[in-house]
Amino acid sequence: MKRVLLAKFLLWTGFAASYAVGSTESIDRRAVQDSNQKTAIPSRDGLRFVIDGHADYFAGSNSYWIPFLKSNSDVDMVMSHLKQSGLKVLRVWGFNDVNEIPTDGRVWFHHIQNGASVINEGADGLQRLDYVVKSAEAHNVKLIVNFVNNWGDYGGIAAYNTAFGGNATSWYTDKASQKSYRDYIKAVISRYKGSSAIFAWELANEPRCRGCDTSVIYNWAKSTSAFIKSLEPARMVCIGDEGMGLTTQSDGSYPFTYYEGVDFEKNLQIPTIDFGTLHLYPSQWSEQDPWGNLWIKAHGAACVKAGKPCLLEEYGSLALAASEASWQQTALKSKGIAGDTFWQYGDNLSSGPSPNDGYTVYRGTANYTILVTDHVKDVKKLNSH
Ligand SMILES: *[C@@H]1O[C@H](CO)[C@@H](O)[C@H](O)[C@H]1NC(C)=O
Ligand SMILES: *[C@@H]1O[C@H](CO)[C@@H](O)[C@H](O)[C@H]1NC(C)=O
Ligand SMILES: *[C@@H]1O[C@H](CO)[C@@H](O)[C@H](O)[C@H]1NC(C)=O
Repeated sequence: MKRVLLAKFLLWTGFAASYAVGSTESIDRRAVQDSNQKTAIPSRDGLRFVIDGHADYFAGSNSYWIPFLKSNSDVDMVMSHLKQSGLKVLRVWGFNDVNEIPTDGRVWFHHIQNGASVINEGADGLQRLDYVVKSAEAHNVKLIVNFVNNWGDYGGIAAYNTAFGGNATSWYTDKASQKSYRDYIKAVISRYKGSSAIFAWELANEPRCRGCDTSVIYNWAKSTSAFIKSLEPARMVCIGDEGMGLTTQSDGSYPFTYYEGVDFEKNLQIPTIDFGTLHLYPSQWSEQDPWGNLWIKAHGAACVKAGKPCLLEEYGSLALAASEASWQQTALKSKGIAGDTFWQYGDNLSSGPSPNDGYTVYRGTANYTILVTDHVKDVKKLNSH
């Protein structure tokens, strides 16, 4: 199997962006592989994730923007590049909440205004996410799809507050907001039930409830994840939080505290939460980059205690390669850490370079070689042991 895949990578590399397959034999093999994948829903086994029957460590990335692209060929290009690079898991934004319907043709998914919600199933709506899922299926890339942003980008909790009242902390218990959020979740899940391309459903991007008792987020995560499992029991579910609030190996610094209303270890006990997530941005948390190694090890240990895998789901340093490569090494060595998805993947789209927030690692650059090519080699080495 591995040799077949390698041969295909070489074939694809040879034909640049084209992923048309040259021989009947390859087409047949791909068809067999594809039909097997239809039934293979990613899962977990002990402290590992399982993809296509392999309980391995998985490397991947984030590209929040891919569901908002209007060009199918851009989506296919990114997916084929991810596949060529050996990046198996891609985290994308499954939300795009607006208070006003855009008039410039921009993609939007969920219009919320004056207490009412409309889900956009049109060509500039969830059909864009449909294409991402379809392309991921074709390229055997596994998606983490989340349902709301804690931050204001693409709507988020602030957009719900505008439509339904309340504020950033009352949102978690606000009846009207939660009903609209759940209706949206149900609409998205119903489109991709049983798809081999979904790695996990994720409650939110970086939920926080500053100054709240940690029971607020705990109760919300517990009931929302149970709701999702009722819609699709076999699918993994995660929270999408930054991993804040833990006592294991705590040095007492801000991210380890409950200041943002998150208790990582308590939340991981929720039976309908399959794995823990952690994010890592020392420069935004008044820490130095080497501190990131402690953060990773602490979560690995907490995940071992809980008997569930941890995903280093976002990490970014403005020094890019130098710091991030050392975090990758730590992740590979830490029991309990089962995968990592760096923030964020960059590529050349037909419209120009994909978004750059200072943390983007563009394909084909020297940083990409270090953080992707070399890392994927290390991952393969680890998995072959
Ligand atoms: C948010 O709303 C709640 C409930 O009405 C209130 O108790 C809290 O003080 C508000 N928080 C802020 C920051 O306004
Ligand atoms: C991306 O496009 C730029 C400008 O056209 C080009 O210089 C660069 O080599 C391209 N990078 C890759 C990885 O294709
Ligand atoms: C990686 O990116 C950083 C930040 O943009 C840059 O300073 C550094 O030179 C790059 N390193 C390599 C090896 O390309």
